[in-house]
Amino acid sequence: MMRLNRRDFLKSSGVAILGSALPFGLVKVASGAKTPAQDFTFGYISDAHIQHLGGPNFVRNWDRGLIRAVQEANLLSPRPDFFFFGGDLAQLGTKEEIDHGLEIMSKLQGKVHYVMGEHDYYLDLGEYWEKAVGPHYYSFDHKGVHFVVLNSILTYDKWIFRNWPTPMDRMLAMARLDNPDGSPFIVGEKQRDWLKKDLAKVDKNVPVIVCSHSPLQKIFKGWNFWTDDAEQVLALLKPFKKVTVIYGHVHQIQYNQIGNISLHAVMATAWPWPYPKTYTQVKNALPVLTVPMNRADPFFERDATGWQFMDWKTGHVDMHYQLPNNKDRVVAYNRKTGRPEDTRYQDSKKRIPPQNHF
Ligand SMILES: [Fe+2]
Ligand SMILES: [Fe+2]
Repeated sequence: MMRLNRRDFLKSSGVAILGSALPFGLVKVASGAKTPAQDFTFGYISDAHIQHLGGPNFVRNWDRGLIRAVQEANLLSPRPDFFFFGGDLAQLGTKEEIDHGLEIMSKLQGKVHYVMGEHDYYLDLGEYWEKAVGPHYYSFDHKGVHFVVLNSILTYDKWIFRNWPTPMDRMLAMARLDNPDGSPFIVGEKQRDWLKKDLAKVDKNVPVIVCSHSPLQKIFKGWNFWTDDAEQVLALLKPFKKVTVIYGHVHQIQYNQIGNISLHAVMATAWPWPYPKTYTQVKNALPVLTVPMNRADPFFERDATGWQFMDWKTGHVDMHYQLPNNKDRVVAYNRKTGRPEDTRYQDSKKRIPPQNHF
């Protein structure tokens, strides 16, 4: 079984990037000889938040995060089979932002599968996205693994079709944190019905990877780190032996194990969110297994953004986070405890890793 770390991968790819971390995820899937699935890699870029300032101007820092990810992804050799973009390509869902984001992404050499984020959706309810990017949810098979992409950032009709002064007011209401006027995300009944039918065609031994934008677990409602019908979606995935959910939106390292399902977040290319205080204050808050992420250094614009690659062996993901100017983080499945754990910091005495600037 092949296990790559970043240094090995860059060495084997013949790429030398001095002092630089790649702000996208490279995923190594090695599903084992007992299943027909073959080994392959794919990359993951997420949460670019391209923001239009007017005229030809966009927020430089968010542009730079995505441009850097694309440029460095293009250096990889051998090439990953494909990439995902994990949602929030735009900041306020405008045509200018989506077009500009897609223009940057068009420089990426390889197929990209897109996931819808709430920042892409709530201006026009995904109308332009469907035209420019494609369907809001879909599935495909690749080398023995079944991939499902969900639009997990829908919400209730009574909120969507409130008497908003303008569609931008709706977009801004959904974009804010701690907004008493917000509404929790859902996958929704229609899509859950579709998922049920889609999964009915899949053998229970086939590894399933689900990509959503919001976490398919309930973490912190005030910031919409939350999907209201997460339990109903996970129930559909329960019969499968090997399930991994990969999500964006939270801009930070998170991991959890719910039954047979491992859940992992990917980093943003734009900015990090801090951990809500409730993670430590509320006894039963999820994800109980996550160790806090390093806080961002405001003097280093790429700090606490980053990339990760995943090594999937025996059906469990070992996730390798690479944080620019900071120590690597590895979240690996611990067979003894039956859950993913941070290999360096899971011990409570070492829960807050120190900053390590060069
Ligand atoms: Fe985001
Ligand atoms: Fe988001």
